[in-house]
Amino acid sequence: MMIDANKAAHRAAMSRALPPDLFPGMMAISAEAVIAVDDEQRIIFFNQGAERIFGYEAAELDGQYLEVLLPARYAASHRGHVHGFGAAHGQPRLMGERQEISGRRKNGEEFAAEASIVRLQVEGHEVYTAVLRDISARVRAEERLRDAVQARSDMLGIVSHDLRNPANAVKMLARSIMEGEEGDTLSPHVRERIQVIQQAAEQMDALIEDLLDVTRIDTGRLLVSTRPTDGHLLVVRCTESLRVLAEDAGVELRSEVPDRMPMLLVDADRTMQLFSNTIGNAIKFTPRGGCITVKAVTMDTHVEVCVTDTGPGIAAEQLPRIFDRFYQGSIQSRLGSRHGAGLGLPISKGIAEAQGGAITIESVEGTGTTVRFTLCLAPPR
Ligand SMILES: Nc1ncnc2c1ncn2[C@@H]1O[C@H](COP(=O)(O)OP(=O)(O)OP(=O)(O)O)[C@@H](O)[C@H]1O
Ligand SMILES: [Mg+2]
Repeated sequence: MMIDANKAAHRAAMSRALPPDLFPGMMAISAEAVIAVDDEQRIIFFNQGAERIFGYEAAELDGQYLEVLLPARYAASHRGHVHGFGAAHGQPRLMGERQEISGRRKNGEEFAAEASIVRLQVEGHEVYTAVLRDISARVRAEERLRDAVQARSDMLGIVSHDLRNPANAVKMLARSIMEGEEGDTLSPHVRERIQVIQQAAEQMDALIEDLLDVTRIDTGRLLVSTRPTDGHLLVVRCTESLRVLAEDAGVELRSEVPDRMPMLLVDADRTMQLFSNTIGNAIKFTPRGGCITVKAVTMDTHVEVCVTDTGPGIAAEQLPRIFDRFYQGSIQSRLGSRHGAGLGLPISKGIAEAQGGAITIESVEGTGTTVRFTLCLAPPR
């Protein structure tokens, strides 16, 4: 207690003894511009930070109007703004917490800045002090990032759109050979090869659709047309459509869906995509002999669907990125029969959210994974 009291007294004494040139010294080293003007808005203080940012020397601006530091088109409105602030009575206060403004350097270049201004009374006179930070580098970086995201979306859109026609041509021709007159004359070996061509074209088609969906999500153009839909029928139909795939993979597919379920407000095709992406992942990653359980539980405002598998799970450090576009946790995910593009989960997230729901994933490495997504209940008639 005694020690604390001593420390407080010592601090008070120190602060009384601060040399008068301490504050100018602190102002000088500040990376931010500190500019003070009198009540006529003539510059009376311009620190080194301001010299660096604006390119003027303090002596050049002594007594000049503040407007010299602003783009011409803002100067008039700025004057009114500061006057309005000056006319307000009361304690010194911040004029807007860190507002974004534009400044003008000596060479005429405009730049983005963040500024706050405070009004103080100094020996009976009003002094306005502005503290300003040059944020032009940050703004430029943000613009570059926005442009890059837009360019990537444009590129994805164009590439996937233009790949559609050739992929469709391959599919149609392969089908016409298999189902046409000459189909019967083909040797089993050739038929097998054409089937491989068909499968490859289907995969290409699915990938193009996924790329188009990602671009739609990116640009906010993923449209869902939700309709009141029988919950039980939908969940059963979506789950059953994946049974053959699970059987082929030697994985058991259990369904725990109550007989009575409420009506849902969903886009049936998009919801099918949610099921096929999440159950499809479970089938793809769970080794033979494993088990997948699809459970639907009715809550107050939605139905929660859980897809749980006994697969290898996902490492904890990969989970935060698992909904990122093109993210595939492990190298195995990109190889062999497990190939994919890392688009299923981000698209599922886009669909779940576009329908007013959500999707989450939990996983324990070596134990398995559970994906939960919600489907909204239809309002009562
Ligand atoms: N049930 C799961 N068990 C283990 N890992 C999973 C499971 N679901 C997803 N993952 C991991 O998350 C990654 C991303 O999944 P996502 O569905 O987005 O992409 P993908 O399945 O690799 O490719 P695509 O879905 O485009 O065919 C996968 O590559 C995999 O590493
Ligand atoms: Mg997937």
